[in-house]
Amino acid sequence: MLELCRELPKIELHAHLNGCVRDSTLLELAKLLGATDVEDVILKKGRSLKECFQLFDLYHILTTDHAILTRITQEVIEDFASENVVYLELRTTPKKNEAKGMTKRSYMEAVIDGLRAIDTVEVAFLPAANSENLIGSLPNDITHNETQRKKIFVRLLLSIDRRETTAAAMETVNLALEMKDMGVVGIDLSGNPEVGEWQTFLPALQHAKEKGLPVTLHCGEVPNNKEIHSMLDFYPQRIGHACYLEEEHWKKLKASKIPVEICLTSNYRTERISTIKEHHFADLYNANHPVSLCTDDVGLFSTDLTKEYDLAASTFGFNKEEVFQLSRNVIKFVFADDDVKRTLAAIYDAAEKRFMP
Ligand code: IMP
Ligand code: ZN
Repeated sequence: MLELCRELPKIELHAHLNGCVRDSTLLELAKLLGATDVEDVILKKGRSLKECFQLFDLYHILTTDHAILTRITQEVIEDFASENVVYLELRTTPKKNEAKGMTKRSYMEAVIDGLRAIDTVEVAFLPAANSENLIGSLPNDITHNETQRKKIFVRLLLSIDRRETTAAAMETVNLALEMKDMGVVGIDLSGNPEVGEWQTFLPALQHAKEKGLPVTLHCGEVPNNKEIHSMLDFYPQRIGHACYLEEEHWKKLKASKIPVEICLTSNYRTERISTIKEHHFADLYNANHPVSLCTDDVGLFSTDLTKEYDLAASTFGFNKEEVFQLSRNVIKFVFADDDVKRTLAAIYDAAEKRFMP
């Protein structure tokens, strides 16, 4: 099953750039900065939610620099493409860093430079209208021919960190609107769920909604009855996690049909659940609720999308057809346009003949 999950075309909707940096790159960057005592911290496997956010502060010290952002973007895309992810929505929090002459815009431009710089993999990240490098409409050998370069669609989501102010959140939404032509397709609200108030971000999220920019929210990573209600009432295009929903939230969520980005390993590692078996994925799946398996942070949680599909298959007893369908269903929830969705459908059609001859 692991091999099949690797071969399977996959769609990743919930991956944070800085959470996906290779351990080897982090260690190299730490050494360059003269930080010799961080190896144990970076390589440690089990982490509480609190420790994860402390670690992100360390990662950001190592990576918030234009050239390094370009490099990590390149590596992260190569890694996803190498395991046959054919569409990736990569999210990242644009950051200012005066010492480096960095603005939120120049941060994002460095990320986009990373997308442009990749040549080991064929990357399509611009919307069709002004794309020089859109993948052909029938990439039927997308995952099959090992001698060909892998092909991947990449779209970007700009994250608002829960530590930010209303004005900073608004700046991020406006930047996303300005960068729609550069492959930015939506907004994410993330960051330490114990920090910040929903009301702080609402004006910016409302602005995104009014402008037709899709929104996904980290929702219910900690128990917070009122916030979860408000988030569901906001009616985002998708939510991530949904770990601490109560009965009335479940009812609201299921009635809304808002797709849920499921991060099994992340939720287990951060002790949101005590076993994978008891994860709410099973209930949502059985209720036919829209779900997509995601990694959250490949580097931080030592996982990849192949492992997440394999974990779901082994824990919940899925056969080949069910795993294939689980992956294919995700096409419906991507934020990219219908042309991309049609191309993805063609990729899955071609793959189906190989998987289920
Ligand atoms: P970045 O946005 O590329 O810097 O990716 C790291 C950031 O993503 C972190 O600083 C958090 O704000 C956010 N993040 C990553 N994983 C999680 C999570 O599990 N919950 C909430 N926020 C997260
Ligand atoms: Zn996340």
